[in-house]
Amino acid sequence: MKKKYTIVTYGCQMNEHDSEKISWLLENLGYEWTDNKEDSDFIVYNTCLVRENAELKVYGQLGALKDLKRRKPELILAVCGCMMQREEARNVILEKYKHVDIIFGTNNIHKLPILIDRHKQTNETVVDIIEDTRDIDDNIEANRKYSFKAFVNIMYGCNNFCTYCIVPYTRGRERSREPESIIKEIEQLASEGYKEIMLLGQNVNSYGKTFDYKYTFADLLKDVNKIDGIERIRFMTSHPKDLSDELINAMANLDKVCEQLHLPVQSGSNRILKAMNRKYTREDYLLLIEKLRKAIPDIAITTDIIVGFPGETEEDFQETLDLVKKVKYDSAFTFLYSTREGTIAARMENQVPDEIKKERFQRLLDIIYPIFLEKNQKYLNKTVEVLVEEVSKNNDEILSGRTRTGKLVHFKGTKDLIGKFVNVNIDAAKTFTLEGYLV
Ligand code: 5AD
Ligand code: SF4
Repeated sequence: MKKKYTIVTYGCQMNEHDSEKISWLLENLGYEWTDNKEDSDFIVYNTCLVRENAELKVYGQLGALKDLKRRKPELILAVCGCMMQREEARNVILEKYKHVDIIFGTNNIHKLPILIDRHKQTNETVVDIIEDTRDIDDNIEANRKYSFKAFVNIMYGCNNFCTYCIVPYTRGRERSREPESIIKEIEQLASEGYKEIMLLGQNVNSYGKTFDYKYTFADLLKDVNKIDGIERIRFMTSHPKDLSDELINAMANLDKVCEQLHLPVQSGSNRILKAMNRKYTREDYLLLIEKLRKAIPDIAITTDIIVGFPGETEEDFQETLDLVKKVKYDSAFTFLYSTREGTIAARMENQVPDEIKKERFQRLLDIIYPIFLEKNQKYLNKTVEVLVEEVSKNNDEILSGRTRTGKLVHFKGTKDLIGKFVNVNIDAAKTFTLEGYLV
């Protein structure tokens, strides 16, 4: 009987894609996937620490596995991901969760088979962490979740040092992946029938800055746009400070680049943006939105917003509310500011009390949800192209898929349509989804 594995993934798309690579490595070692931890011979936790609750969840889950490990000592338990790039978190695991067998990081996934061997030989906790993003192996294959859309890493690490954010201290210095390597991977995906590509990086707009030749993110988009078989190109995440006119033009002119942009604003107050070290003002940001909408009229714009950054006053918060009303986002991820030890903001005075953060957070949702609905209502009675993704969990007659603008659409259909493009007429709009029927 084949040995079984499971991977629990927290955090962003970057982590999701890393888990797809870990899955590929484990299947090559002869493991087979299971959803059930009790059945597993190998469990991996791929962790995130961008906010405190992401971190606490991991500790909770690891604690709950002590009993399973006692009953099943041959079970291998591995913890990896962003949290493990922090020495403090590794020490907590080594001291309090001694049943963990392997600790590795975000930059040495390719070493997992060696680490497993080392653990089997010594029966000790194996710890292997690499800080340098230059050591990342660009060529590990991935066991992808879908057979028609795929994540592709284009850069690693982050150099921005936003004062609230722990990522530059975990994922290391920014490094762009060579264009040839990216293009080769996407050509391979296209030849296997993949139709949609999501280019991944902490700040894709600064792609190429680490090369000693001139090749920008817009150049990369142009080259990916030429690959036969690929029909949709998306990317995440963009930093407003690096969103150039060259890129806006490329988005407008390249037919495969989708009319969608995730452009985290974080705050609408210039004072707070400065304290966050974001390097743009609300005026710069609003100008970008204007340019984007002019160049790409139907573009869907989404964002990230942090509420309760240290020193945020009611006036600052009002500026954020004012900005979201002006921009009218299609959707947004909203976060309560979470203190991350080691960042500059953690040492700032005037931390905002929890009750005020929560109250502001609710007021923000009360304003943005109706905007999302209003944006979705614009799709009513229109026909949209949908790439079909999956069958609904609750009703196997209902399919879901996404528009070029990234909207999730539910409609009646049969599962042979998965992975295909269909036209759907929209007859209902909700805050987060659209509904329609095949035409
Ligand atoms: N507290 C709250 N939200 C945070 N983010 C990053 N760091 C923090 C923090 N300390 C949010 C930002 C970022 C998203 C991925 O997570 O909005 O864009
Ligand atoms: Fe992703 Fe950042 Fe979380 Fe790491 S810390 S998983 S990069 S969101």
